[in-house]
This record gives sequence, C-alpha cells and structure tokens, in this order.
Amino acid sequence: MDREEATPAPACRAGPGARTHRQVMSDTSSEAAPEATRRTVLKAGTAIAVTSATTTYAAPEQAAHAMAGQAIVVQGPVKVLLKVNDVVYERLLEPRVTLLDALRERIGLTGTKKGCDRGECGACTVLVDGRRITSCLTLAIMQDGRDITTIEGMADGDRLHPMQQAFIDHDGLQCGFCTPGQIMSAVACVQEGHAGSDDEIREWMSGNLCRCSCYPTIVAAVRQAAEGMS
Ligand code: FES
Ligand code: FES
Repeated sequence: MDREEATPAPACRAGPGARTHRQVMSDTSSEAAPEATRRTVLKAGTAIAVTSATTTYAAPEQAAHAMAGQAIVVQGPVKVLLKVNDVVYERLLEPRVTLLDALRERIGLTGTKKGCDRGECGACTVLVDGRRITSCLTLAIMQDGRDITTIEGMADGDRLHPMQQAFIDHDGLQCGFCTPGQIMSAVACVQEGHAGSDDEIREWMSGNLCRCSCYPTIVAAVRQAAEGMS
C-alpha cells in the first residue's frame, strides 16, 4: 500500500466536520489529483477544516451552499460581528481564533482571563445568550450575532452587580485571577437555580478552579448574592 496515499484524515480532531472532511478530500483527489501526494492531501485538509468551521457564519450565498450540502472554501479572515455587553464589534478574524483571544486581543476586554487555555480552569468563563461557557473552547465565529456578556458588563455604572459586591463582602478572592470567571459562573449558577444550598453551589461551581483556595468564601458570596438576585 502506498503510504503517501493511505494517510488518513485526522478524524479524531475533525469532530462534527469529519464526514465532510473525508468526502471533500475524496472529491478533490478524484477530480484534480488522481495521484494525490501527502502534500496535496494535507493542503486539502487544511482548506476543508476552515470550511467546516465557517459555513454557518460566512456570507449568505456561502451559507446557502452549505445548507445545500455543498462544500465551500473560506480563505483568510472573515468578518465577524461580536455583540459584547450590548456593543457590537466588527472584526476580521481567522476562523481559528477563539472567543477568548478575540475578546482579549482583538477587542481589548481583558477582564476575561486565560488560565489553562484548554477548558479546565474556568478562568475564561463568559455568558453567551445567558449560558456560561469557557471562551477558550469556542471559536469567535461561532458566536457571531449572539449576546455575549463579560465581567466588564456586570456593573451598572458605578453600582456593582450583587455578585461582585458579595465577593468583596466575603473576601472571595486573594490574587483575583480566577475571580472574573468565578463571578460569571456564579451569576449563571444562581440564574440556573443551582444555588439552593452550599453543597449545590459547590457542585455547580466545580468547573471554576481557584489556586488560592478561596472556595469557602466563594460559596458564602454566591449564597449572599443568590438572596439579592431573587
Ligand atoms: S482558560 Fe478557559 S478553561 Fe481555563
Ligand atoms: S483568587 Fe487567586 S486563583 Fe482564585
């Protein structure tokens, strides 16, 4: 067997786009390169990886192609509209840019922190359409047009959000690095109805790690804010 031609698509990384990936790779090799080399296969794979990540968010004509099951190729940055804290930011972003990097490096909202950058610490937690997500694990283009709330959007002018105030009242932080993510997650925890007891708060806040081990005071803060938010 020719080793060059037999190199499989990285299905484990391709996720939901894997089927399209393989289909298009097959189409490409049969139409344009009967004797595909490893280089051509890799180039096709790169193009389609971008395609699978952007079909929903590309121009209407491209979206129509995608809905019809046709492959499209998006090259380079795409225009993304990110609505953050009720302000719409238009940015040209590579499809691979995470929401976290878009917020911090392309919009300048550095309140959201980058801890692990792989979904383990919760420091990057933001709300999207009211639901908490780890912004390091989602692509910015996937959140085009959605309602994103970051820590910068919590206070009402000079008046802190009840959760922010509760963290101060209970000394729910030391170094403060995890605090924006803790607060965003805590707000969602209360809104989800998961702050009925200390045990429940601990359980539903368990995705947010604190290297300073402020957990007891964080729980106390969430408990206090839950009363103020109801
Ligand atoms: S930085 Fe996103 S979960 Fe750690
Ligand atoms: S307050 Fe330091 S990591 Fe949580």
